[in-house]
Amino acid sequence: MNLVNRLMVSVLQLFPKGLVKPFAMRYVAGESLDDAVRVVRSFNLKNMMATVDVLGENVTTKEEAFAAVKAGDEVLHEIDENRLDANLSIKPTQFGIRIDEAFCHSNVKWLLEIARGYHSFVRIDMEDSSTTSATLKLYERLRSDGFENVGIVIQAYMRRSEEDVKRLVDKKVNVRLCKGIYIEPDEVAFRDREEVRRNYLRLLKMLFDARCYVAIATHDDFLVEAAYRYIQKMNLQKFAYEFQMLYGVRMKLRDRIVADGHRMRIYVPFGQQWYAYSMRRFKENPQIAPHVLRALFSSS
Ligand code: FDA
Repeated sequence: MNLVNRLMVSVLQLFPKGLVKPFAMRYVAGESLDDAVRVVRSFNLKNMMATVDVLGENVTTKEEAFAAVKAGDEVLHEIDENRLDANLSIKPTQFGIRIDEAFCHSNVKWLLEIARGYHSFVRIDMEDSSTTSATLKLYERLRSDGFENVGIVIQAYMRRSEEDVKRLVDKKVNVRLCKGIYIEPDEVAFRDREEVRRNYLRLLKMLFDARCYVAIATHDDFLVEAAYRYIQKMNLQKFAYEFQMLYGVRMKLRDRIVADGHRMRIYVPFGQQWYAYSMRRFKENPQIAPHVLRALFSSS
């Protein structure tokens, strides 16, 4: 199956950019900030919140990292200006974590100060395992700096996540809990689907027990149902958690969760780098490729 998926990724790369674009735009709001504002507004009208992501990662120059701060500033400004119910998600490698950790820290700190001025919140996405320690260190340092308007992501497939959560719960962290999207070696991450689910639920329980705010980020019915049961059993109020889903994925499930009275936030990526972003995602996780090809060949 994996080989088939990898083949599909190779096939996808042969398609002209123009042909892939309509597919990619099911998962990306568009190329401009105006596109993102339009999409976020449409979600707000449907009683859903959003988190906006300016596409880009793995910058190699300080200028690119400064540009990411500027882009984040513009998003926060537009959210405020348009009175949108949305916040910002950022990738550490876009803010220079691979260049220099202290440099990245000062960039994210700068952005958090801007966000604080807008009473807004910034979520630090979690990237591949080569950046996990540095990203958690960055987050913990920002909390020590006194920032409360920042959140982190924990990936349930990571073997280390239980230890990380044990350490973080005392800080009353605001966590997005997801399975994890990068291809990781066995010694770093669980690969078995059921094992990842079990760990997801173990971590969710630990976070709920510690009364941390959790963003339950999944499109997996099994996990959604299990989260419902925890929420009910623990009698959690609706402002103690939220569900999160990616733009363009499993809309029926999304609408059902909202209709059931839970808060839902949609991850809305936008930007010029949609092609590079999509292709990297496919290479990192070839399991997405069948979704792409199906979308390419299904009638729209
Ligand atoms: P699973 O992969 O089992 O998906 C369940 C079903 O949903 C699939 O059968 C399929 O039908 C559908 N589906 C899932 N993903 C799809 C897609 N891309 N296209 C089409 N259909 C799809 N990861 C990470 O490593 N770091 C991060 O910071 C984040 N951030 C993040 C934010 C939000 C809001 C979400 C929802 C997810 C992430 N992720 C992430 C990605 C996450 O780790 C995970 O890879 C995906 O959510 C897929 O896992 P599910 O839990 O949805 O289950």
